[in-house]
Amino acid sequence: MEGHKIYEGKAKILFDMGDPDTLVQHFKDDATAFNAQKKGTISHKGAINCQLSAHLFGILEQEGIPTHFVNRTGPVDMTVRRLSMVALEVVLRNRFAGSLAKRLGQPEGGALPMPVLEWYYKRDDLGDPMVNRDHIRVLELAGEETLAAVERLGRKTNAILARVFAQKGIVLVDMKLEFGVDSKGRVLLGDEISPDTCRFWDAKTGEKMDKDRFRRDLGQIEEHYQELFRRVVGHEPEF
Ligand code: TMP
Repeated sequence: MEGHKIYEGKAKILFDMGDPDTLVQHFKDDATAFNAQKKGTISHKGAINCQLSAHLFGILEQEGIPTHFVNRTGPVDMTVRRLSMVALEVVLRNRFAGSLAKRLGQPEGGALPMPVLEWYYKRDDLGDPMVNRDHIRVLELAGEETLAAVERLGRKTNAILARVFAQKGIVLVDMKLEFGVDSKGRVLLGDEISPDTCRFWDAKTGEKMDKDRFRRDLGQIEEHYQELFRRVVGHEPEF
């Protein structure tokens, strides 16, 4: 990859290729969990997550959600709009699962009567703590208008994707979204939408088709990532 590496995260690298408006987002096979205490690789994960994200960003754009996605330039690379990222992770939930089930003492799998939105402060050194609107204001992590746009776009993204996945016999249990502001001041959906950042359950069997297979040592990780991709996109991923 030519260009200048400006950021390397646990699962992706961002390259500056010289264009002031765009970057290249490169997807790795590396996987981490529990704030990188657990490390591994999932073969072909970069390709699956890159191509699934591209597919879902395309659907969201058509439905009126502005995203950072421009185009895909290879199996594991996409051009994205350059954003100033909001230092928040926005989690949308449709079922009790993961940390919500644990925190509220509920069995995993129960339906929520309404989608639940949670904010997490992106700070690896603190383990990404959950924050509320007042915490966000005190820390000045985002202005009121930006926050309102993020909440509106996050809820709409969840509604669209829950419907898209339901049509494929998959439950969108929960997901993590990240947003940023472009040079014109527009709030755009950024990052990725993949089995690394969402929980997906087979609607019939309840089988997990996401990174919980890695987090919880359930095995057959790659097979389930690939099966999810096939069901949602309709063809094999390109490696
Ligand atoms: P949680 O139940 O562990 O809080 O996770 C909620 C959703 O957020 C789930 O779909 C997985 C995703 N997620 C990430 O993408 N990155 C993270 O670091 C964590 C903790 C969760």
